[in-house]
Amino acid sequence: MPGNGMNMPLKQHLIDPEICIRCYTCEMTCPIGAIEHDDTNVVVNPDICNSCMDCIPVCPTGSIDEWRVVAKPYSLEDQYGWEELPDQEDLGTDEASTGLEALDAEMAALLAEAHQGAGGKARAPASAAKPAINTYTIGKPAVARVQGNYRLTDDPGHDVRHIILDLEGLPFAVLEGQSIGVIPPGTDAQGRPHLPRLYSISSPRDGERAQYNNLSLTVKREENGLCSNYICDLEKGAELRITGPFGATFLLPGDPEARLLMICTGTGAAPMRAFTMRRQRTVGGKSGGMTMFFGARAPESLPYFGPLSKVPRELLDQHLVYSRHGKKEYVQDRILAERAKVADLLVDPKTHIYICGLRGMEAGVEQALTDIAGSIGQPWTGLRDTMREAGRYHVETY
Ligand code: A2P
Repeated sequence: MPGNGMNMPLKQHLIDPEICIRCYTCEMTCPIGAIEHDDTNVVVNPDICNSCMDCIPVCPTGSIDEWRVVAKPYSLEDQYGWEELPDQEDLGTDEASTGLEALDAEMAALLAEAHQGAGGKARAPASAAKPAINTYTIGKPAVARVQGNYRLTDDPGHDVRHIILDLEGLPFAVLEGQSIGVIPPGTDAQGRPHLPRLYSISSPRDGERAQYNNLSLTVKREENGLCSNYICDLEKGAELRITGPFGATFLLPGDPEARLLMICTGTGAAPMRAFTMRRQRTVGGKSGGMTMFFGARAPESLPYFGPLSKVPRELLDQHLVYSRHGKKEYVQDRILAERAKVADLLVDPKTHIYICGLRGMEAGVEQALTDIAGSIGQPWTGLRDTMREAGRYHVETY
């Protein structure tokens, strides 16, 4: 913790329990084990945290970016007991305020570095619009109304839904690639309200229907999934509580000349649909182009199979790949089969890569890109780091 000298106020790193969705990404990212959790909260150990900032850019909600200047640090026990963050205490002395200013400058520098993606962390495309984040929180969620709930798949054991939410006049600005939280009703075994679950928005910024204040989600019914079953069973007209929006890096470049290489499986197609619709409504076929590798079990379990067939090829070059229909094929197999096309994209500084879907595909896709990049004399890790630094490489897997 910086400023940990004698008689100095301390700047303590904390997590906002009202906004945190308990995804534990920060805990997994922290290189020194300073973050831990119990059944209630995710907390930062003041004795370990060295404010390295590695956890800041990976948090999908921004709840990680909380700081208090304290005379004595809040203990782990204090933090586990919180339902909301305490206000900044008034330290009140000249010494404290001098210390505060010095610490603020120090922290501002560290935070600026973290937000710029130091150490190769995710960055937004340079030409992306600036996203709104956390407009609605667990404490103050928005209430949306279900405008439509449509089944997207014909496979009986694989229920994926297109859910349209009407925001009914509420200001809820979103960008393609962002997510929202959905709060399932009821309480857990300890009687506490359920926490929100994150879902990618699958519609563009101006609405599922242009100029309507609505948005859509692509939700797969998971066996025993509390929130996915709740959403998939919602009837038209039902109200639900939502939070967000979240996500500040997996965004569409505003530059119409940018070329997009989109690699997804299953419901990972949601942001790709939003990107495609945005381009269709704004630049159409005159954009830099979009190439998609989309993996599903079979045509009947590929979300948006019908609508995709109507998207013009000059806007979206589609490679639909099936693992349980004919010869088993994964996205990485098709990427390798289309190596000339992919190599052409990899060497172009206007190319942005988006990977979204099953965590398991990441290794296979990386391997395929390593193979192709290597074969054209561009070692993949270097190329990937350059792309990430420039906000041109984006991964969201689960
Ligand atoms: P499979 O499950 O047949 O092995 P969905 O989420 O709709 O089930 O779609 C996910 C798709 O991703 C399926 O076709 C699934 O294939 C495939 N998949 C599973 N594991 C991997 C992996 N390691 N790499 C790429 N694709 C994968």
